[in-house]
Amino acid sequence: MPEETPPDDVERVLADKSLLGRSGFSSGSDVYERARPGYSDESVTHLVDSLGIGPGSRVLDVASGTGKLTRSLVATGATCVAAEPSASMRASFAQVVPDVAQVGADAVRLPFASGSFDAVTVAQAFHWFATTEALAEFARVLRPGGGLALIWNERDESDPLVAELARISKWDVHQPYPVGRDFGVVVDRSGCFGPVIRTRFRFTQPLDRTSFVEQVASRSYIVVLPEERRRAILDDVAALAAGAEEPIGLPYLVDLFCARVR
Ligand SMILES: C[S@@+](CC[C@H](N)C(=O)[O-])C[C@H]1O[C@@H](n2cnc3c(N)ncnc32)[C@H](O)[C@@H]1O
Repeated sequence: MPEETPPDDVERVLADKSLLGRSGFSSGSDVYERARPGYSDESVTHLVDSLGIGPGSRVLDVASGTGKLTRSLVATGATCVAAEPSASMRASFAQVVPDVAQVGADAVRLPFASGSFDAVTVAQAFHWFATTEALAEFARVLRPGGGLALIWNERDESDPLVAELARISKWDVHQPYPVGRDFGVVVDRSGCFGPVIRTRFRFTQPLDRTSFVEQVASRSYIVVLPEERRRAILDDVAALAAGAEEPIGLPYLVDLFCARVR
């Protein structure tokens, strides 16, 4: 979003989840790639085993971003395809996972024939399109009995540093969904998949002070702010980082939801 966006428009984008999901990742993919965590080996192993992903599996990673989950799926020997609407994200993806085919597509309109995939994955993104419409589209492109995995790295706000970070970065005001939301309910309600298996893991991301600030800068609601408001928040985050020992450990809860097409 351009810096000179009128304040009313900024508020409108912040209030409209699907608009924020589109605008908040239209730039800054290099910062996203540097600062955001990947997915822990433990959670990926569980995801892959639950969905039976392995050599020869056809996997569609929806909202693939810079490929933080895709690269772990490629390592299983699966044939992966990525769907991602942001050109900026796709450009970073192409550098990191150059051998994986990508399409520019929204989650609710996937340009693939019915039954094309054994598994669909969505990492850190289902909250932008958590609808029966999107789930029906995932079910359509999956073969009968195909698997769905939704995964998030959630900041563990029981940790005092994370709680303070959430407060000063205004995450508590602008978060697109509450940490720990049970997205399995949305999946169950759709009638397209089930039953949903819920699993939670934990891991800690070690960060230097610059990356600590950058992981906040990569948040969608920060990306869309006018420069003055963005700078003020990032300066507060830098001050918090300055008082912490490096590496700064950022603890995460990893929420994983797996289900099969009904
Ligand atoms: C937080 S990033 C997650 C990227 C990547 N999956 C990861 O784990 O790092 C959210 C992604 O959702 C994408 N996104 C937002 N709205 C979308 C939609 N309606 N359909 C598909 N992708 C969407 C954004 O472009 C962005 O790349």
